[in-house]
Amino acid sequence: MKEEQTLRKPEHVAIIMDGNGRWARARKLPRLAGHRAGVENLRRILRAAVEFDVPILTIYAFSTENWDRPADEVEGLMNILQDVIDHELDELHKNGVQLRHIGRLEKLSPVLQEKVQHAIDLTSNNDTLVLNIAWNYGGRDEILYAIQSMMEDGLSPADVTEETFSRYLFTAGIPDPDLIIRTSGEMRVSNFLIWQGAYAEYYVTDTYFPDFDRDAFRAALDSYAARDRRFGRVHST
Ligand code: IPE
Ligand code: IPE
Ligand code: MG
Repeated sequence: MKEEQTLRKPEHVAIIMDGNGRWARARKLPRLAGHRAGVENLRRILRAAVEFDVPILTIYAFSTENWDRPADEVEGLMNILQDVIDHELDELHKNGVQLRHIGRLEKLSPVLQEKVQHAIDLTSNNDTLVLNIAWNYGGRDEILYAIQSMMEDGLSPADVTEETFSRYLFTAGIPDPDLIIRTSGEMRVSNFLIWQGAYAEYYVTDTYFPDFDRDAFRAALDSYAARDRRFGRVHST
């Protein structure tokens, strides 16, 4: 019964928010206008997540590889994160959103690190929606960091089980994603949740993220509800 319910409604949805740049180019706008439109759209997606009873939402917003973009785009993206915290945090807090972060904060400016930490601390007891932001996140980096941490803690090889390993990841305490959505049509993982996504259902839509609205989100959840998750077995039940 429980498994059937899980089949219908994912507990954890992750979104690779891709296509902001192409959305902007199609309108002859600078790429950063696309990123701002993506943030605007995020409001709709958060509302939809609450409406559709999705308790945990992870969004891939800045990868470890995205540092290789032109400096002004990287700076613009960092400024957008800062703006969101400065202008949206109160509203998010009021709406019961618990903010979390996966990735490494160390490379961010000290001011931004403090703001992110403040947002996490302020909202830590909220329970309407967990919004987990992947920022300076890379799946390989996460795995290496987990291995380094386990070695520092002096774990013996026999201690390194899947459960232990999962506890050393940035996502410790968060269940694996049931559904990973990628917007803008790219059929690749791009270093996102490569351990946790082992048995996630994937959904790719051609829609660019700024246009990925409530109904598009609904379509992804409907697709998920119709999947037969076998986890290597013969059939689910
Ligand atoms: C996703 O949109 C946002 C980030 C990676 C920061 P892109 O910026 O990758 O948009 P495209 O893929 O160039 O269209
Ligand atoms: C993945 O998108 C990262 C984010 C959405 C933050 P990219 O646009 O960076 O991925 P690639 O380069 O197309 O693989
Ligand atoms: Mg992209």
